[in-house]
Amino acid sequence: MLNTGLLDRAIAIIDGVKYKAINYHPKKYVRPDRLINPTAKAWVGLESILSDIIEFSKIETKSALEFGVEYGYSTAAIANYFDSVVGVDTFTGDPHAGYHGNILEKTRNNLMGFPNIKLVKSDYKDYILENTDRFDLVHVDIIHTYEDTFQCGLWAAQHSTVTLFHDTQSYKEVKQAVSDIAKKQPRNFTTIENSMGLGFYFEV
Ligand SMILES: C[S@@+](CC[C@H](N)C(=O)[O-])C[C@H]1O[C@@H](n2cnc3c(N)ncnc32)[C@H](O)[C@@H]1O
Repeated sequence: MLNTGLLDRAIAIIDGVKYKAINYHPKKYVRPDRLINPTAKAWVGLESILSDIIEFSKIETKSALEFGVEYGYSTAAIANYFDSVVGVDTFTGDPHAGYHGNILEKTRNNLMGFPNIKLVKSDYKDYILENTDRFDLVHVDIIHTYEDTFQCGLWAAQHSTVTLFHDTQSYKEVKQAVSDIAKKQPRNFTTIENSMGLGFYFEV
């Protein structure tokens, strides 16, 4: 049986060939000062590589946008580093995250301590329609179909310096969509193997 280290290296080599992904290993892990209790575990661990990603990619930290807020764990983590964060979600769930009814008020409550976060209840399709805003960082963590990740992710890549995609390891549709976005608009793409994978798509 393969051990995990060997398996990770094998995945990295395959990704390099199949998805033209480059290698990136965080140099440091910094836990942000202010977090909320995680309702799901999928993003836990990733909050500690945000500061390394910001330093590595040398982006400004004025504005961030997140598609897929749910209860706000990743939004809160991002809000530790950016002056303003917009969080877009239908707040009704999806087949992968589950359906929990309308959770906007619950999430608003969870994020009460973050005055720099603005929540927008919207489908990403309506939000991006004729929207020309630019952001230093966009995080895409919506329904994990190829079509939605590609459509939302392409807009995100065209309107941000760094674009993060969650679940690049656990959903091959997400990884394929990111790889196709990178072909359409060539930039570097790497995936990080912990916490279901965080695809990291950036300019050099
Ligand atoms: C996996 S959860 C996000 C988790 C969150 N990023 C975290 O780690 O704390 C996915 C969210 O995407 C939202 N979503 C799914 N499809 C969407 C769409 N088309 N437009 C906007 N939000 C969507 C769902 O309502 C759900 O809350």
